[in-house]
Amino acid sequence: MDWGMKNRMSRIISPKTGRTVMLAFDHGYFLGPTHRLEEPRKTIEPLLPYADTIMLTRGVLRTSVDPDSGANVVLRVSGGSSIVGADLSDEGITTSFKEAIKLNVAGVGISVFVGSAHESQTLLNLAELVNQGEEYGIPVLGITAVGKELEKRDARYLSLCCRICAELGTHIVKTYYCDEFEKVTTSCPAPIVIAGGPKLETEMDVFEMTYNALQQGAIGVDMGRNIWQNDHPVAVIRAIRSIVHENNKPKQAHDLFLSIKEEESKKAANA
Ligand code: 5RP
Repeated sequence: MDWGMKNRMSRIISPKTGRTVMLAFDHGYFLGPTHRLEEPRKTIEPLLPYADTIMLTRGVLRTSVDPDSGANVVLRVSGGSSIVGADLSDEGITTSFKEAIKLNVAGVGISVFVGSAHESQTLLNLAELVNQGEEYGIPVLGITAVGKELEKRDARYLSLCCRICAELGTHIVKTYYCDEFEKVTTSCPAPIVIAGGPKLETEMDVFEMTYNALQQGAIGVDMGRNIWQNDHPVAVIRAIRSIVHENNKPKQAHDLFLSIKEEESKKAANA
């Protein structure tokens, strides 16, 4: 691996722990003003100190994140479809490498839709990004998207998707947690991070999912809604960090969550 690629990978995955807490808020690229992300700057600014990397589009980066925030950026560079359009899988590459370099990104991210009408198009887009990423020293995050078909999230399908991403040369794969997740991680030679998916019922569910994913071979999370749709997003991301980087168990993370939440309410009462 060349110096630039290694350097950028170390801005995504902590060299100290070999793990990462990525904060995803790219949802607007096909969902528009997603609940609690209507004003991205307001939602995201308090969370920035606790994210190793942020994942977003160039539009939200330029308008809603200060260039001196110190954030490491993985730029979403695929898009072209919307939740009300005919087919979510019909994505192209939206952002050039020249632009990504200008924005000083640590990496770029793209969705693939395996088994969809646009399977080949999205996989070839990923392959093309990897070709260019290798040329410029920029890692590519391959995202195994399921579109509206959340029920697709099982070990058989996700193993297929993750392995294909790795075979095409993607540097990090983002997928969903599922039953028998170990099958997904052991058959994928690239490091895997998990998305959170739609908001889960309790914080403990989020902490358990994170913990179990790490136990079964993930190197971290690239999570959005289960953090910023929570009423106490800072407490959630800090508890997740404690699992990812300090090996906390779900119960310890939950205790931390409760203590940060209590601190926040005391501060608010005294303000
Ligand atoms: C959208 C994405 C999101 O970044 C990803 O799903 C992570 O967010 P969440 O934890 O809310 O699922 O890639 O296509």
